[in-house]
Amino acid sequence: MTQKSLMLQVRNLRKTFTLHGRGGVQLPVFNDISFEVSAGECVALIGSSGSGKSTLLRSLYANYLPSAGEILVKHHGEWVDIASVEARTKLEIRRETIGYVSQFLRVIPRISSIDLISEVAISGGMSSEIAIEVSSALLRRLNLPEHLWNVPPATFSGGEQQRVNIAMGLVRPYPILLLDEPTASLDASNRESAIELILEAKSRGAAIIAICHDETARDRFADRLFDVSQFKAAA
Ligand SMILES: Nc1ncnc2c1ncn2[C@@H]1O[C@H](COP(=O)(O)OP(=O)(O)O)[C@@H](O)[C@H]1O
Ligand SMILES: [Mg+2]
Repeated sequence: MTQKSLMLQVRNLRKTFTLHGRGGVQLPVFNDISFEVSAGECVALIGSSGSGKSTLLRSLYANYLPSAGEILVKHHGEWVDIASVEARTKLEIRRETIGYVSQFLRVIPRISSIDLISEVAISGGMSSEIAIEVSSALLRRLNLPEHLWNVPPATFSGGEQQRVNIAMGLVRPYPILLLDEPTASLDASNRESAIELILEAKSRGAAIIAICHDETARDRFADRLFDVSQFKAAA
């Protein structure tokens, strides 16, 4: 890449949870977080447990509304603040621009694993035939036993669900990828396959923000570390 092209700009972000069930108690998590991520770059979020890494990642996906600040996302060539766009645009950003690999399988519908992954690819305009091919290739690389492909992942082990998650996040060439512990529940050889897929996403130009406690894995794909605990908000 000749010139670094910015994909994400976080500006002065603050998150305080308000516990409505507890008389509106305020729970400050972080304050004044700013950073940028370019295409082809991976930033790893670090910091002690409870410092707000997952909260930050969820905010970037607009699962949580920030208390202050901006989350500017390069979407179809334009900067938009995902925290303040209308619902329709937010869904479009999630479909077209930001992929999210959560730590646990979020929805466990009664759809087979291969269909869950193919549907993501088809939503990106792939024909169903090619989508099945691409999804199969991914599951093969992630070493998910073939007899599980036609089974819904609800009853899978943690590591098997995690591989379905990774495949759903990587089957489309999202310009921005959010990864929450993508390799945590994988054994060594499956972890290696996941790392290789992440590196491939990076080299095709994805801007990646990752949480990964495993330092050996993290060192393989992270270009720099961002310590969330430095931004601890006063209680
Ligand atoms: N939905 C929520 N409502 C209230 N508090 C939350 C919520 N999610 C996280 N928190 C709190 O925010 C803090 C940061 O949590 P989290 O982002 O999960 O930390 P980390 O991922 O760094 O371990 C913790 O004190 C946690 O209890
Ligand atoms: Mg977390």
